[in-house]
Amino acid sequence: MANIIDFEPIGLRIPCMKGDTIFDAARKAGIPIISYCGGKTICGRCKIRIMNGNVSAISNNEKNLLSEEEITNNYRLACTMRVLSDLKIEIPPESLATIQRLQLLGKEPQLSLDPVITKYEVKLQESSLENPLADWENLHKFLEDKYGFKNLRPDISLLQNLSSKIRNENWEFSTIVRNDEVIGITKSDEDLYGIAIDIGTTKLAVYLIDLHSGKTLAIQGAMNPQIAYGEDVMSRISYAMENGVDHLRNCLLNTLNRLIQQLTGNPEKVVDVTIVGNTAMHHLFIGLPVKQLGRAPYLPAIVHSLDVKARELGLNVAKGAFIHLLPNVAGFVGADHVAMLLATEIYKASKCTIGIDIGTNTEVALSVNGDIASLSCASGPAFEGARIKHGMRAGNGAIEKVNIKNNKIDFEVIGDVAPIGICGSGILDTISQLLQNRIIDQRGRLQDHDLVSQRKANREFILVPKKNTGIEKDIVVTQNDISEIQLAKAAIRVGINILLEKCGINEEEIENMVIAGAFGTYINVESAIKIGMFPSIPLYRFTQVGNAAGIGAKLALISNEHRSIAGNIANRVRYIELTTHPKFTREFSHALQFP
Ligand code: FES
Repeated sequence: MANIIDFEPIGLRIPCMKGDTIFDAARKAGIPIISYCGGKTICGRCKIRIMNGNVSAISNNEKNLLSEEEITNNYRLACTMRVLSDLKIEIPPESLATIQRLQLLGKEPQLSLDPVITKYEVKLQESSLENPLADWENLHKFLEDKYGFKNLRPDISLLQNLSSKIRNENWEFSTIVRNDEVIGITKSDEDLYGIAIDIGTTKLAVYLIDLHSGKTLAIQGAMNPQIAYGEDVMSRISYAMENGVDHLRNCLLNTLNRLIQQLTGNPEKVVDVTIVGNTAMHHLFIGLPVKQLGRAPYLPAIVHSLDVKARELGLNVAKGAFIHLLPNVAGFVGADHVAMLLATEIYKASKCTIGIDIGTNTEVALSVNGDIASLSCASGPAFEGARIKHGMRAGNGAIEKVNIKNNKIDFEVIGDVAPIGICGSGILDTISQLLQNRIIDQRGRLQDHDLVSQRKANREFILVPKKNTGIEKDIVVTQNDISEIQLAKAAIRVGINILLEKCGINEEEIENMVIAGAFGTYINVESAIKIGMFPSIPLYRFTQVGNAAGIGAKLALISNEHRSIAGNIANRVRYIELTTHPKFTREFSHALQFP
């Protein structure tokens, strides 16, 4: 018999089988309990409090990951504790994933339309005993005579409906042609729409585009639902290795179909789709194996661009529509990187230009005089708030900016709420301010200071005292948090340094540094320079461009030329494997220090 779990403060009651974990029950009900380890009892972030009811005995892992105080107050980890009776549980705010602030907009270059999909007016001669042409041949002859098409072929779904449609439209309508294929017919006055999709590890961005004008009509964003199965690419890959790709693929597909439905009201109007994402997201969307991405030499199943019928992949748009998946470069440099280079036009740079998109994997490109070199750094999820004691994504309640002067701490919080944690830009600012105020030294060690407290063997900096927070405890930055940021910033800086060295360029020669992506949009570049994550070049050389990968997907949607440029970029990029570079270890340990 099912037990009932009452989730507070959401007020949701759901049935759950005895022996299930709360984490699985919440996931099935769509309750977004935070998990940075995909439910493997490693991260300790899925804390919940038992208000009443019986559960399994506390495990050793829980004892290691929870404080004594938390255990005394009935806190447990949702991913390991099992349900033994009806339960009432509380999900504390820091364990509930808020919707992340999604950076969907980005700078767009000027371009003239070069549509992949074109509409042609048709007025057929009605078939008769005197004109006994079959319907497809009748249409084909018209398109050949009037527009000069040769060897067009019909999409099978078009053919299945052609006879009834041309008669319903009284032999006068428009055909939708993509390259050498007629993919649909429509009323002459109907507009054509396309969808550009950026599948990020953390978030999804879907753009509705008018294919006639090239204008963006609407944008929808959402968290990538695969987050419930692991925060970063490697944990998704390991989930897929254990459980197959179907579940990850299906939850992603369902969310994309929902977003397209919300954007269009009628997905049948969408006649073309482009998709970008890192190589793992690309593979998971198509249903390709990802096991080989998780092991050296980290090879993709395919890097070339793909054109696949949307219906074959289960994406609900017009029946004849294709999805164009932009090319990947390598196992950890994917189509989103190619799209970023396309949108920012870094591939054209004559002066030394660095493009960087910071995420759990950070891709960095250096372009100069037509030569492009790229690599991927395992910067980890610290800037997404993971592995940081009070870290969280950039949603409501996240401290996003910090300034410390004369022991007075000023901070800004996203949304009109009390702070409940710190997001990536906030932690970056905090570390920079701690350094400037000599509260940490160059090795990142917290010093004796009024704002530093000692909790057991660990020191921590009290950023916001309990009375001013929304979580009834201090929001702190621990010594361990500082180490996590040192690891993340060192990974990024080593990537930049090794690219510079490979291209024989000094950091002063960097003329442009283009920061793409959601995190990059909100960071204080000065803070990033102060902690040594970015080279110390003048601030005016930095540009924050927003979601360039999404814009690249849009460019490829409305321009044939940009599809081929994307292919050309992917071929030109010289991929550099960072971890096997002979100087990696030395550079990395040097970059761990603060300047
Ligand atoms: S410890 Fe439970 S999700 Fe990570």
